[in-house]
Amino acid sequence: MLVSPSLLSADFGNLAPDLEMINASEADYLHLDVMDGVFVPNISFGFPVMKAVAQRCKKPLDVHLMIVKPENWISQIRDLGAEIMNVHQEACPQLHSVVQRIHAAGMKAGVTINPATPVNTLVDIIEDVDLVLIMSVNPGFGGQKFIPHAVKKVRELRNLIDATGSKAKIEVDGGVNLETGKLLAEAGADILVAGSFVFGAENPAETIKKLRSL
Ligand code: DX5
Ligand code: ZN
Repeated sequence: MLVSPSLLSADFGNLAPDLEMINASEADYLHLDVMDGVFVPNISFGFPVMKAVAQRCKKPLDVHLMIVKPENWISQIRDLGAEIMNVHQEACPQLHSVVQRIHAAGMKAGVTINPATPVNTLVDIIEDVDLVLIMSVNPGFGGQKFIPHAVKKVRELRNLIDATGSKAKIEVDGGVNLETGKLLAEAGADILVAGSFVFGAENPAETIKKLRSL
């Protein structure tokens, strides 16, 4: 299992030690949650913070944009050096075009779906994306309770990927811990995002290691 710890639950008053922990850990990515107060009812951080984080972080950046019009920010996300740019399906009426533009900028394209968005809305884009991010909470806040229906969606997405020969990876975000992570691993998830479970742990690096072993 690959693990993408979410910076949202780190100590914003003192990010450096948390980033050093991430660098020294077995984390595969660092997950950055961008919120605009429009697409989701919260605001997190923007480019000045992400630039400072990108300079210190040695892990590939997995940027999750919970914003309207994410296509307006493709070059700025690329300039951060991000590996994955995740946009919400619900925020992109011209999703295919956005995916093409993310690829043209040299990044992997991820498409994220909210808890109420069915997997089958991805049928006509699945062969063009590098990753699908299934939300297992309603986006906007860390520390929420896992929505069990997400496990069924991971299974359904795994079947869709296998049936089409798509190379898309399956990432899951929200309420991930060792119990829910195990269910997601069994259902076919490739990458787990974890915020509060990692940063709230007594030993975050060890927690990342445990999630990786699922
Ligand atoms: C929620 C964010 C998540 C969040 C997960 O909107 O997309 O990445 O940080 O937090 P936990 O793991 O605490 O549910
Ligand atoms: Zn996220």
